[in-house]
Amino acid sequence: MKFFADTADIADIKDLASTGLLDGVTTNPSLIAKAGGNFLEVVAEICGVVEGPVSAEVTALDAPTMIEEGRKLAKIAKNIAVKVPLTWDGLKACKQLSSEGTMVNVTLCFSANQALLAAKAGATFISPFIGRLDDINLDGLELIEEIRVIYDNYAFETEILAASIRTANHVKEVALIGADVATVPPAVLRTLANHPLTDKGLEQFLADWKKTGQKIL
Ligand code: E4P
Repeated sequence: MKFFADTADIADIKDLASTGLLDGVTTNPSLIAKAGGNFLEVVAEICGVVEGPVSAEVTALDAPTMIEEGRKLAKIAKNIAVKVPLTWDGLKACKQLSSEGTMVNVTLCFSANQALLAAKAGATFISPFIGRLDDINLDGLELIEEIRVIYDNYAFETEILAASIRTANHVKEVALIGADVATVPPAVLRTLANHPLTDKGLEQFLADWKKTGQKIL
């Protein structure tokens, strides 16, 4: 499973990219507002740090303007994935932009039928929002399972990009289901390496090593 960072914070992105484990980045208008700065410049800077897909979202609501905005965003860098909302206009824009060879991430997906439409529109990525479904007592993970079955039934190439991830458990569950990508907030991503028994074991190993009086270097 690929890991994308769900943030527009350049310091966080640089830090995560330095691990060599970061496969891409997703931004949205809220994340851009939180990070501050000029949208086009921030996205260009992120594209310079990360080789994989960097999602940048259109803000128009009608297909012709979405396509125009998408074309402008796609010119920023080769690794831009234009993000469009899952509306009829968004699907039209997806079809057009993907036919032009631009990667498209269809966002704000909350149902399996929406995901089916996005795949038929040639989406590179579909972004089902797990956490926001959980917030209203619906099962976000069940949605990922349904989409996996449908995409496998018809051999759709659209990648399932599990979004709105809030916990380390969400990451494990979407990996078990077979999501292609998880986009994860940096704070959650960092917790994935943590385990109290790792810390305890390391402490013991280091204490015993000290007793040997040896050094490797
Ligand atoms: C990703 O593309 C989405 O923009 C993001 O995961 C939304 O997460 P949130 O529901 O925590 O805002």
